[in-house]
Amino acid sequence: MQGRTENHGDHFSNRNAVESGPVRRIKTNGVETVFEDEGNGPAIVLLHGFPFDRTMWRDQVEWLRSSYRLIAPDLRGLGETRSPGEVATMDQMARDVAALLDQLEIDRAIICGLSMGGYVAFEFCHSFPARVHALVLAGTRAPADSEQEKESRERQTARMLAEGMKGIAEETLPKLLTPETLMRKPEVVKRVREMIERSDPNGAAAAQRGMAARRDYSGDLAQINVPTLIVVGREDSIRPVGDAEFLHRRIRNSRLEIIDEAAHVSNLEQPEIFNRALGAFLQTPGGAA
Ligand code: MLT
Repeated sequence: MQGRTENHGDHFSNRNAVESGPVRRIKTNGVETVFEDEGNGPAIVLLHGFPFDRTMWRDQVEWLRSSYRLIAPDLRGLGETRSPGEVATMDQMARDVAALLDQLEIDRAIICGLSMGGYVAFEFCHSFPARVHALVLAGTRAPADSEQEKESRERQTARMLAEGMKGIAEETLPKLLTPETLMRKPEVVKRVREMIERSDPNGAAAAQRGMAARRDYSGDLAQINVPTLIVVGREDSIRPVGDAEFLHRRIRNSRLEIIDEAAHVSNLEQPEIFNRALGAFLQTPGGAA
């Protein structure tokens, strides 16, 4: 199904539709989506990773809100948005985003996703290509899971449901962050830990199952013809530099930014560098904005 394509014009953000405020709730596709909506200007949709929530984008919202309108939803199952089913697919999340944009009367936006948010961005590009003005893909990859990866997700899902999120936070923090961040940036460690720990295990399980079921996006990449920024932390072991290079080789109008001293959540570990790269991309003549 193709999204709405009418009225694309220069002004792809329209604030008149629904009353504004930083944290808002809108019913989309039977789910109450909680989202932040800040700033004025061209719309940027910020799609968080797993098992995180919209607050992971706080530094980017602060940085960009004087010139852009930032829409940061909690994707179904995570943050304050509940999942009605036991599986929250990437496609459903992308359709929630499209429905949210419909309600906000935004026809077209810059779509920015990190890791799981990147999978959602791929689905959004596939189903609603005319609604994508530009793309930012951080710490993500195109291929589907191997059988081994699916099994590992199943084990993690069982653990989350049995024990809650604390153990998952303990286990994943050393992969999400560099040793340097773990040692020297306690506020970043605390932020990431708290995001994981406050995730609802049932919702996180639904998102985890949704990721396991996702398709291979490699074949879609040649169809992407909007300016695309690919960002990766040099020390990311979850979605390493090779995954980003794979995307860069196949998305024709793309640029690659490798961020030093960052692992999986480069926007949190190196917010200034991430923001500078994003800002430069957004200002590219003929590019994003
Ligand atoms: C994420 O950060 O969203 C996850 O690492 C994605 C995944 O598990 O594939």
